[in-house]
Amino acid sequence: MRILLTGATGLIGRALCQRWAAAGHELVVLSRQPQQVASLCSGARGVAQLSELEAAYVPDAVVNLAGAPIADRPWSAARRRLLWDSRIGTTQALVSWLGQLPAPAPLLLSASAVGWYGDCGEQALDESATTPGQDFGSELCAAWEQAALKARQHGSRVVLLRIAPVLTSRGGMLARLLPVFRLGLGGRLGGGQQWMPWIHRDDLLALFDHLLQASDSDGVYNACAPGLVRNSAFTRLLAAQLHRPACLPAPAPVLRLLLGEMSVLLLGGQKLMPQRALASGFVFRYGELKTALAQLLPSSVD
Ligand SMILES: NC(=O)c1ccc[n+]([C@@H]2O[C@H](COP(=O)([O-])OP(=O)(O)OC[C@H]3O[C@@H](n4cnc5c(N)ncnc54)[C@H](OP(=O)(O)O)[C@@H]3O)[C@@H](O)[C@H]2O)c1
Repeated sequence: MRILLTGATGLIGRALCQRWAAAGHELVVLSRQPQQVASLCSGARGVAQLSELEAAYVPDAVVNLAGAPIADRPWSAARRRLLWDSRIGTTQALVSWLGQLPAPAPLLLSASAVGWYGDCGEQALDESATTPGQDFGSELCAAWEQAALKARQHGSRVVLLRIAPVLTSRGGMLARLLPVFRLGLGGRLGGGQQWMPWIHRDDLLALFDHLLQASDSDGVYNACAPGLVRNSAFTRLLAAQLHRPACLPAPAPVLRLLLGEMSVLLLGGQKLMPQRALASGFVFRYGELKTALAQLLPSSVD
């Protein structure tokens, strides 16, 4: 297949490119650093502008991952603008380009996040939920999805992946937690009762592939493992895998003071199921957190 990707020099995109290049797909990556693309994205061709592509180029699928990191720093006004423009602005430009193609691109796979749901407490959720949360992260995801859905007007099927924090041994959430937990300084966040969706990187890549191949994939898919845990269980399992104590909780008021509205990412949660992925026949290899952590952190003595 001819696949065009945005944001593919990042954590998820680099791994996707490696997988898809090995499978023989032809990859083009839209990037702010096109000269880095060939080395970061398994030989993919990098372009800085969509206008650089040949007039006859029509991808079989477009994968939209671009966006400034959401959890790197508190959501000041300037940061919110960057988070917004890097997602909604990029997606709008992409969809407008799709509208100018000589033939419709059959499929747009566009990233979103479980933050779409906001903090939902004990409410059981799947993709049938109709109302996004009310914090900035939810508004961002909702607008991002709406911008992507406009590609339907140009004849593309649109798949939206609401991605949970991705577990990988290199980067992402675990890379932030590991140094603290390895020192024995880890602990639950606030009361630890919040549900905490997660997904193993390999399952996320396989899910992207599954939705790419399935000719009837359409609409929203929660990209989270079925083995959902609360933050307290996540903390206990991670500490056990590292053979370290984790009895230093981060108090909720301190997190709120330090992070402002962004603290919803740590203190809020979603009791979320990947209902549509399961119904479509997708099988999670790492459905349970204990298995996922054992695979990712194998050096620990069992
Ligand atoms: N990783 C997770 O746990 C997770 C969970 C939920 C949702 N997601 C979403 O999935 C997408 C991919 O995740 P990821 O972890 O691979 O992200 P990442 O490692 O942060 O990479 C995102 C890519 O977006 C592009 N980008 C960064 N800042 C930008 C800006 N200011 N303007 C335009 N483009 C910018 C960059 O590509 P270039 O430099 O090549 O332009 C970067 O490589 C992101 O949008 C993220 O929000 C990720």
